Amino acid sequence: MERIPICKPAMDEEMIAAASDALRNEALVNGESVFKFEEEFAQFIGTKYAVSVSSGTDALILSLIAAGVKGSEVVTTPFTFIASANAVLHAGGRPVLADIWEDCNLSPFETRRAITESTKALLPVHIFGRPCEMDDFKDIAEENNLIIVEDACQAHGASYGGKKVGAIGEIGCFSFYPTKNMTVGGDGGMVTTDNEDIAMTVRKLRDCGRRERYLHDAHGFTSRLNTVNAAIGRVQLKRLDAWNASRIRNAQLYARLLKDMGDIVLPPMNDDKVKGVFHLFAVRTSYRNDLQTYLNEKGIATAIHYPLPVHKQPAFDGYFEGVYPVSERVSQQTISLPMFPSLSEEEVRTVCESIGDFFRKTT
Ligand SMILES: Cc1ncc(COP(=O)(O)O)c(C=O)c1O
Repeated sequence: MERIPICKPAMDEEMIAAASDALRNEALVNGESVFKFEEEFAQFIGTKYAVSVSSGTDALILSLIAAGVKGSEVVTTPFTFIASANAVLHAGGRPVLADIWEDCNLSPFETRRAITESTKALLPVHIFGRPCEMDDFKDIAEENNLIIVEDACQAHGASYGGKKVGAIGEIGCFSFYPTKNMTVGGDGGMVTTDNEDIAMTVRKLRDCGRRERYLHDAHGFTSRLNTVNAAIGRVQLKRLDAWNASRIRNAQLYARLLKDMGDIVLPPMNDDKVKGVFHLFAVRTSYRNDLQTYLNEKGIATAIHYPLPVHKQPAFDGYFEGVYPVSERVSQQTISLPMFPSLSEEEVRTVCESIGDFFRKTT
């Protein structure tokens, strides 16, 4: 039996041709494709500027430096990939965690409680492609004079109240790591903003802090997106809306078939205001580990995002003093099911039938 993978990055002939064309005809670094990709991405998100970088982590680090968080606190979530919190540290800031609520996103209520005199920015993460409650975060930011940096690394094309994520806060950060809703055929990232100063600062920081070729007026990094990756990204971006529509269709089918099955808790679904793009389809069950073993035996790949919340990671041992009970509970119950644009209806049905069999045998 063919295994059903958890994700399947796309790399078609047009992407390969675009890569080979860029390799043959453009500068390997700072080639034309880089600037075209940035223009097209800015247009897609709806911001004045998009600045490409070499990863989502660098998008976050450079954005947070540009936002001036050095020496200040940044409130973010424990239920995320560790890069969100790492980036704050690398930018010279202090990550402060606030717990999530039942949608697995940063809780606005807990965020308010985490704000101090030293808070400079909020870093909400649109986890699994589901937009955070941005109206609440906008209110909190306005009341406390804070900058919002959106970690949209899992949410390319998601929207909230008619605006794409990455265009709602001051700055948006995207990752093009191969498992994401779109990739560049390797690592890559993008910073989106309407703020010209921020865009210029990120552009300078990614390019060794250059003002001119060998004149540097900032301590920069080598964080550029390679031309060949930008060329692939341009083709992927053209496919993104159709891919996201397919993910949403698959999510709706999962939700229909898994409703009332065992103790499964489904992720929140889209409505008129909050339109997620289901980077992952993560359900929760107290039988998580046994279910994962059972599905694996049936040839169905799953993954745990994330088995440890940020404050439990060895890299942050002893760093955070608070307790984050919802994140800890969700980390023990969450399981991500296969989700990618070319996942067929039949495959979704196979996954759900196997989950049904598991609960019939187990409970
Ligand atoms: C929420 C989140 N933030 C940040 C990152 C970092 O992106 P990258 O792996 O491209 O550095 C990722 C992805 O890996 C992510 O999922």
